[in-house]
Amino acid sequence: MSTDKVSVHGSWASRWVFILAATGSAVGLGSIWKFPYMVGVYGGGAFVLMFLACIALIGVPVMLAETLIGRRARQSPANALKVLALEAGHSGKWSWGAFAGMVTALLILSFYSVVGGWSLDYIIDMGRGDFQGVTPDQVGAYFGNVIADPWRLTLWHTIFMLLSAVVIAKGVVAGLERSLRIMMPLLFVMILVLLGYSMTTGHFMEGVHFMFDFHPEKVLDGLLPAMGHAFFSLSVGVGSIMIYGAYMPKNSSISGTIVGVALLDTFVSLVAGLALFPIVFAAGLNPSEGPGLMFVSLPFAFGNVAFGQLMGVVFFVLVAIAAWSSAISLLEPMVAYLVERTKVSRAWVTFWLAFTCWFVGLGTVFSFNIWKEAKFFVNEGGLFHLYQWGAAGGLDFFGVIDFFTSRIMLPLGGLCFVVFAGWVMGREAVRDELSIRSPVLFALSLFLMRYVAPIGILVVFAAQLWK
Ligand code: TRP
Repeated sequence: MSTDKVSVHGSWASRWVFILAATGSAVGLGSIWKFPYMVGVYGGGAFVLMFLACIALIGVPVMLAETLIGRRARQSPANALKVLALEAGHSGKWSWGAFAGMVTALLILSFYSVVGGWSLDYIIDMGRGDFQGVTPDQVGAYFGNVIADPWRLTLWHTIFMLLSAVVIAKGVVAGLERSLRIMMPLLFVMILVLLGYSMTTGHFMEGVHFMFDFHPEKVLDGLLPAMGHAFFSLSVGVGSIMIYGAYMPKNSSISGTIVGVALLDTFVSLVAGLALFPIVFAAGLNPSEGPGLMFVSLPFAFGNVAFGQLMGVVFFVLVAIAAWSSAISLLEPMVAYLVERTKVSRAWVTFWLAFTCWFVGLGTVFSFNIWKEAKFFVNEGGLFHLYQWGAAGGLDFFGVIDFFTSRIMLPLGGLCFVVFAGWVMGREAVRDELSIRSPVLFALSLFLMRYVAPIGILVVFAAQLWK
């Protein structure tokens, strides 16, 4: 069986560059923006614990599966599954699962770019000194004004999308490495500085209790969101990590690398939460405030400490870069696929895909202002409406896309990939690609992919339906 395929899109110079790129993909708005607000909404400790369990038992095996599928096939996700399935004597239709994943990635990018735009906007606002000496109420109102203005959000959403598309158009392998080598370590340092600051607020232990006190009655409510977010945070379930695996040099060990990336990503999420909640409590803000949590609490902190203005600018620059390196990995799978399948140039493919995501993203822009009242899936005292203007419950456009991608498509994509690596590819192909010397570790990896992760995903879905 051939194991010496070559990627037409280039390869990373070394295993370290893969680690950098994969960490760049995983660490992003998911850890810094989304994780803390979800912890807030789903009630603290129970959510955190389930998130950690899902990372270890489901997320890491899926990440392993994606990387080894990608590296063996050295092609875009849909083509990778097709080629490997045919090689192993199975149906080429497996590629449909990966295709659905690549579309999911584009849907995620549509709203990811809008929030990435918020962080760009905040770089300027911080630098102008808009937050100097603000009160919590004022920061809340400030954020409210930002998202109430569709033109402002559209402007930054456009800029963010363009910045991501430029790198993709040039080819990921060339564009990503130089920027990430310095910025990722700096981001870690900055988050640690924030953590140090939050220890001085006098509310640090309150934050710790909020994040780690376990309330069993909240488990069922937060289970599916926690699993969905474990996928989101690790960038797995759509082929992002798979396409980066496709550019990975042959001779580097996969499992150790993957566990390292997962640990880094989880570490950033936890530290971001620990840094944020004490500030939230010190400012008397509401932890379950939702998507605005970071954009309200942090400017308040930066606005009220020495050198806060400068630190705030640096922080939002780093967040924007972290978001940008994640956005790239959302676009790359479909770009690689279309480059492989068509004669259109990489630049044109990138342009049209980025434009499509940008257009869909306008829906998210409007859900914070002119379409705020447009509600989908409304359940009104047992009466179900698919769509209703001005309903009290239901989901707005952003909510629908977020729900559909994180809670349904990512876990299904992950299920497809682990089952593929565990059952379809064949034991020998997996052994060859993993090249783990210890038989025990190999057996453990295979066991996680064959049984633990798939059953885990199905159990969480079942628990949600039964709830
Ligand atoms: N993991 C990134 C974050 O936490 C977002 C992301 C990048 C992603 N690629 C992905 C999420 C693929 C799901 C699937 O910000």
